[in-house]
Amino acid sequence: MNQAEITEVRSLGDHVGKSVTILGWVESTRSHGKVGFVIVRDGTGLVQGVLLKAELPEDDWGLLESLTQECSVALTGEVRAEPRAPGGHEIGVTGLELLGASEDYPIQPKEHGVEFLLDHRHLWLRSSLQRAGLRVRHEVQQAIADFFYDRDFVRIDTPILTGSIGESAGTLFEADYFGEPAYLAQTGQLYVETACPAFRKVYCFGPTFRAEKSKTRRHLTEFWMLEPEVAFADSDDNMRLQEDLVCYLVERVLERSAKELEVLERDTADLEAIAAPFARISYTDAVTLLQEKGSEIEWGRDLGAPDEMLLTEQFDRPVFVHDYPKAVKAFYMKENPDDPRTVRCNDLLVREYGELIGGSQREDDLDRLLVRIREEKLPEDVYSWYLDLRRYGTFVHSGFGLGLERTVAWLTGRPHVREMIPYPRLMNRLAP
Ligand code: 4AD
Ligand code: MG
Repeated sequence: MNQAEITEVRSLGDHVGKSVTILGWVESTRSHGKVGFVIVRDGTGLVQGVLLKAELPEDDWGLLESLTQECSVALTGEVRAEPRAPGGHEIGVTGLELLGASEDYPIQPKEHGVEFLLDHRHLWLRSSLQRAGLRVRHEVQQAIADFFYDRDFVRIDTPILTGSIGESAGTLFEADYFGEPAYLAQTGQLYVETACPAFRKVYCFGPTFRAEKSKTRRHLTEFWMLEPEVAFADSDDNMRLQEDLVCYLVERVLERSAKELEVLERDTADLEAIAAPFARISYTDAVTLLQEKGSEIEWGRDLGAPDEMLLTEQFDRPVFVHDYPKAVKAFYMKENPDDPRTVRCNDLLVREYGELIGGSQREDDLDRLLVRIREEKLPEDVYSWYLDLRRYGTFVHSGFGLGLERTVAWLTGRPHVREMIPYPRLMNRLAP
């Protein structure tokens, strides 16, 4: 058949009145005797093709019948503006070519169970809600890169295979590294800290791994974490940076992902109301408040998901909880000089999803850090490089980790983080 200039659906507006060829996948077809319709998705948008039996070569008209869900096609014809069509344009089809057949496509336009959909994740990616969610993820990733580039941060890529435990011994994926134990990184933090004296403001952004035996809607065993680290910044500065970043991400998604949020039926009223400053409440005050609201939490225990939910309901925007007890936090956090039972750290909590960010000022005193490593019974020898940061020109510094999937789930209002990553890794899922 005759093909015209191959065009992407997103730029059909520039080709009205001209003949183009669209390459894509068939979402659906319908035919009323002498008129047929085909909806094609090309990855940049959807377009409707209109086929008139009288005006098509007989073979091409005959093809309409064999266009099954998700077969790939080349569609040629004149572009017309059509506000009622999905995407706002239609194509008066003059030529149709089947590129790749698709028989018995497993995902039908009906409700499927989530395990079935996850088993077919490689195909589920094509569905409209999944496309919308992953596009928002992409926008957030780009927004993160822009935010830090504009502020002169240098991106540092930290290793995924490591010999030192980043967070805690409980949730490690261990591998055999030529006879030595290696772990998949739980965090890039310890490494990114060491780049501060080189570049002052740095961040890493990559996959992190936790063998967490929790089947909740907020946990993955492989998730992406953004981790900035800033020299000569204390815990207050750290929270201010988190606030600026979160406001920027919200604004950016409202502005550039409006279409996707609409597809996802996200009511954006609460996002539009988000502005700095966020409330800051100490862990100690949070415990008192929670007890007043009926929680059984006692000072010294970590906040559980129900506590986080209860707490966030008291605030109309994200809320910082700071200065948690040392005993429930990681070894590297700075002891609070005013109250050594606590550390200078913060979590940023949001409604429905709980903790989006965990951050802290780092212990910059060599001796105190050594004490903490010993208290946590971590193998001291593998931290010598990390301790060198305190031996050679130690400095006040702080940073945080923002979980990408939780952030995207919160922004899009989707209930489960598993849809916010192309291939979720869960306790019971390693495939596809
Ligand atoms: O609070 P976390 O464990 O902090 C760290 O790893 C620090 N090293 C960060 C830093 O200071 N540089 O994790 C940070 C964030 C959490 O707030 C959450 O959003 C996300 O990472 N997160 C997870 N997301 C999905 N699945 C999991 N299992 C997650 N564990 C943490
Ligand atoms: Mg945390």
